[in-house]
Amino acid sequence: MELNANSSVRRPWSMRTAVAVSLAAAVACCLVVDVARAAGAGVALETPRIDQGNLKSLQRGAQAFVNNCMGCHSAGYQRYSRLAQDLGLSEEDVAANLIFTTDEAGEPTKVGALMTNAMTEEYGKTAFGVAPPNLSLTARSRGTDWIYTFLKSFYLDPERVGTGVNNLVYPGTAMPHVLWSLQGWQEAEHGDDEHPDTVTDLKLMSPGSLDERAYDDYIADLTNFLGYISDPIKETRHRIGIFVLLFLFALLAVAWFLKKEYWKDVV
Ligand code: HEC
Repeated sequence: MELNANSSVRRPWSMRTAVAVSLAAAVACCLVVDVARAAGAGVALETPRIDQGNLKSLQRGAQAFVNNCMGCHSAGYQRYSRLAQDLGLSEEDVAANLIFTTDEAGEPTKVGALMTNAMTEEYGKTAFGVAPPNLSLTARSRGTDWIYTFLKSFYLDPERVGTGVNNLVYPGTAMPHVLWSLQGWQEAEHGDDEHPDTVTDLKLMSPGSLDERAYDDYIADLTNFLGYISDPIKETRHRIGIFVLLFLFALLAVAWFLKKEYWKDVV
């Protein structure tokens, strides 16, 4: 059978058009997500240099979290045993160094348990006005930049009854500045007479036990850890993703040559 070159048979999209359309769609998706994220921020957020593949940083972050945060916050979707596995620690290490809580029977919390604490929601509400939330997914809802900048920007504010501090990123927050002994106390510098309420800068009035850089590193590790618990499978996913992409590229090559073979007698 002879095929008429001018026949009205609709040719499928060429490979090139298909690739171009897919790329355009991917770029458009990224832009939409970025705009949606940017829309939430009133204060310029700082981006910490963190890496979820850095196990030492995650171990330091876990230590900082159980020492400073778990009195009030839980990480209630995360198990200690999973932590041991992902952070390259033995379960004995985790039990000895990271578990400070007891279970309902008064026994030390088991390594297979979730990272919860004893504070009830009611107690949290009575003590702070707002119950300290479970921080398991906060890095997803707020983003790691938000958490990092939040932990950096507590400042003294005598008008805040109870905690005595305010926060640039989360004005009026009920959370006290729990890391004050490390960072020290900051005071706000205000704008000119026309904008007396605008905070223009934060100044360290009395330093804590860490200098500025060491404090930034400390909260970066903590932020890295919160990023990890919000998405523990991320590193594995990235590793698998590379193989999947390599496989798809190989398949693309095969498909390309197959298409050439099929069409060589037609066009
Ligand atoms: C003394 C209790 C207490 C401790 C300790 C504490 N927090 Fe909080 N935290 C709170 C309270 C209360 C809130 C709720 C604040 C609000 O909504 O106004 C909060 C809110 C937060 C939020 C915002 C969550 C959200 O999505 O709104 C983050 C992030 C956070 N804390 C991180 C930490 C980290 C990290 C530590 C450890 C360094 C820590 N907190 C230690 C009481 C505490």
